[in-house]
Amino acid sequence: MTSIESSGGQGGQLAEMNGFANPGLPEHKPRITDSSPTAERLAERQIAAWFIVSMIGTIWFIVAYFLFPVGDSGALVRIHTMAIGLGATAALAGIGIGIILWAKTLVTDAEIVEDRHDKGGGTEEDQAIALEILNQAKDESGIARRSLIRNTLIAAVAIAPLPAILVFRDLGPLPGDKLFTTLWGPGVRLCKDIGMIPEQSDIMPIRAADVTIGSAFHVIPENLRDSGHPLDEKAKAAVLLMRVDPNELNTDPDRESWGVDGIVAYSKVCTHVGCPVALYEHQTHHLLCPCHQSTFDVTNHCKVIFGPAKRPLPQLPIAVDDEGYLVAQSDFTEPVGPTFWEINTRETNA
Ligand code: FES
Repeated sequence: MTSIESSGGQGGQLAEMNGFANPGLPEHKPRITDSSPTAERLAERQIAAWFIVSMIGTIWFIVAYFLFPVGDSGALVRIHTMAIGLGATAALAGIGIGIILWAKTLVTDAEIVEDRHDKGGGTEEDQAIALEILNQAKDESGIARRSLIRNTLIAAVAIAPLPAILVFRDLGPLPGDKLFTTLWGPGVRLCKDIGMIPEQSDIMPIRAADVTIGSAFHVIPENLRDSGHPLDEKAKAAVLLMRVDPNELNTDPDRESWGVDGIVAYSKVCTHVGCPVALYEHQTHHLLCPCHQSTFDVTNHCKVIFGPAKRPLPQLPIAVDDEGYLVAQSDFTEPVGPTFWEINTRETNA
């Protein structure tokens, strides 16, 4: 048996209908919009205005996406991100604020008590009451009679998912051969990363002697600045360099020469869906990806020990040049980044 009690309004009438006493809820205090048609109309227009803000945000997202393409410079990436971010914020906040305002000003705010249902299916009487409650909610929200709010809300919600089409479009096309090669190659020096796209004069090669046990660096290739697409190339070539006590490394025999006295280098691009692996726990020698918590063991060639990643981080073979700087022996020997459908195509096509 279901019953409803309330201190006022339709809930109260329903409670009286079912013969229940008021359990002591405070008296309902009417809001200005309950008594003033002018305030009610104003609130209605304010709510509709927020839904219109949402629509403008959605349209701005789509326009900004094409107006400010990503480009190859850090400044263009920032402008693109800010412009579409502004649109997304307005689109979602407009709907959210409008609904909150609607609930606060126009939806009936009388407090209602509903008894817990008995176990098992409801009786016909319960079902009739449930139907009555639904109709009551429809009346209280005013969705049927407030056409301005209803229509702007429907329009805002209908176009809000459109930016997702553009965002999903950016996931494609498949990378093909692009992840098979990076800027690393024989003799390319490992340099500290000190900016979005460092100037040539800012690129600082790393001496093996300066890498202490327990330290970790984010590293880029020295030839990054010469690349025609520095941002893309930087993203693919990003490397984490760490120095571990050589006695703690379980090195495969065929990779004995890939490190330098405990200094090892691994791709920073997570093999799950490509986030930057950014956290190094130097006591456990674990690398953590912040996106979905994949964890890689540096002492075991960055094998996956936890999380959704399916393969180890690719290792960059390194050595020391005549001047004591760390250099790559070659490019990565396998594709960097997420496992993808075409990952074996190079072998197949070769
Ligand atoms: S991208 Fe690294 S765990 Fe998902």
